[in-house]
Amino acid sequence: MARILITSALPYINGVKHLGNLAGSMLPADVYARFQRVMGHDVLYVCATDEHGTPAELAAATAGQSVREYCDEQHDIQKRAGDGFSLSYDVFGRTSSQPNITLTQHFAEVLEARGLIEERLEHQVFSIDDDRFLPDRYVEGTCPHCGFERARGDQCDNCGRLLEPTDLKEPYSKISGSKNLEVRETKHLHLLQTKMEARIRDWVDASTEWPSLAKSIAYKWLDEGLRDRSITRDLKWGVPVTKDGAPREGFENKVFYVWFDAPIGYIGATVEWAEANGGDWESWWRTDKGADDVTYVQFMGKDNVAFHTVSFPATILGSEEPWKTVDKLKAFNWLTWYGGKFSTSEKRGVFMDQALDLLPGDYWRWYLTANAPEGSDAAFTWEHFQSLINTDLANVLGNYVNRILRFNKSRFDGVVPEGGTWGENEDWLAGEMTERLKAAEAHFEAMEFRKAASEIRAIWALGNEYLTKAEPWTKFKTDPDAAAIGVRTALNYMTVMARVALPVIPNAAATILDALGIADSDRVWPKGEAKSMLTALPVGQSVEPPEVLFKKIEDTDVAEWSERFGGAG
Ligand code: 2FM
Ligand code: ZN
Repeated sequence: MARILITSALPYINGVKHLGNLAGSMLPADVYARFQRVMGHDVLYVCATDEHGTPAELAAATAGQSVREYCDEQHDIQKRAGDGFSLSYDVFGRTSSQPNITLTQHFAEVLEARGLIEERLEHQVFSIDDDRFLPDRYVEGTCPHCGFERARGDQCDNCGRLLEPTDLKEPYSKISGSKNLEVRETKHLHLLQTKMEARIRDWVDASTEWPSLAKSIAYKWLDEGLRDRSITRDLKWGVPVTKDGAPREGFENKVFYVWFDAPIGYIGATVEWAEANGGDWESWWRTDKGADDVTYVQFMGKDNVAFHTVSFPATILGSEEPWKTVDKLKAFNWLTWYGGKFSTSEKRGVFMDQALDLLPGDYWRWYLTANAPEGSDAAFTWEHFQSLINTDLANVLGNYVNRILRFNKSRFDGVVPEGGTWGENEDWLAGEMTERLKAAEAHFEAMEFRKAASEIRAIWALGNEYLTKAEPWTKFKTDPDAAAIGVRTALNYMTVMARVALPVIPNAAATILDALGIADSDRVWPKGEAKSMLTALPVGQSVEPPEVLFKKIEDTDVAEWSERFGGAG
């Protein structure tokens, strides 16, 4: 039994996440976690809300709440949405939790002791009316290159050039619109990533198991050359800056930058898990405490890769303490909404809570796995969603289950029938099944989710192909024994169809396994000799048709949802 630590990028606390956020980190992490669990491995799947930073402060102010209250409420909302999609985190923690605060302060102090942090004076835009320093993207103004009037202080969205806030002409605060700005001196801690460059490159070179997207992004950053970066901010909400365990002089009104404490939050959330469950967090994270036999797998969107292949490693490798680093890093492209961006204000796209009001989590899980933005960006469209759900779930899987179980109920009293002998058709099914199971397992192992889904679809379709050969419905009249072996094998094969579906559509798979009377301990990946798998159900065991597994999505649904959430028009 292997030990597998899985993390998905921590969702920002502000705002419910849309389907793209789900598809590019939390869902694949969950599918992978479920796959490894049904393979019999010891899995710890860790996630949390990423709670610090200016956006959280501003969102709380808009909501008329304290940041703490706001985060408490939003954390619960996100937790519920995750539950609705059956995300099986072992812990859904918070970066504002005490363990994460303690760890963040610890890392900063150790890095300073190693000569990797120093204080530097910076010049930053201060908004007098907002009474706060403005993060780069909260200063807007006219681009000096192209004249675009709403260029951000970090980049112009019109000409794409990178900017400094002080480059902007006619700058104003994005928060209040105030032009009452001035440049002030402010002291910050800088992490000397330049000193770590060779070390990080060696580590990336040695990381042979990263899929290619992550690796290429990591090298792009390394090739451009690392820069020292400021890891503190002038803000109230965040991890306080300390020295020797006490507030750091001159940093009383500053906190750590959200991207410094967020990835440490993976460890922090594991400590939360340990505190709540009596688990041993160090055995997952400290190579001197047992984590040397852990395989650590991270899931994230491509915009997060630099932070996980450069910044976070700079923190943990720089500490020179025996922390576990990532073994496999799976990155995703974007899920788009009809080729464009999701946007709440422009009514484009479905958010996690809304999706669950339309259909149960499994429908979305299937679609977002089969259409994962893996090799390239992938577009969500209602039409494509409708066609995948209706074909794969309702027709190929759902119909098979219903047809066989209903037929069995009316002709064989709803029990696994006896009679008939294993023959050519069954041999054929066993052979095909063996090949396909091998392929599906390999795709899951490789975290190739689209391929895994298409192999599962093929495994479901194989059931229907078998029925076409076995023809129990026509044989029943002339040769009931031949019908019996057909139905019995089809029921056994249904257990395989459901078990391969467990990682992706866990609820529907469980409904099928319930109907077949499969014990919890047998809800595992189908392994072993095909013939014994296809003859495992005890003759005489009663099996019951479930309620309709999947309902079809009608054209009227598509029309209504397109109207509400945006569509082709
Ligand atoms: O991009 C995001 O949504 C970030 N909140 C991800 C953080 S991942 C980790 F480092 F915390
Ligand atoms: Zn410009």
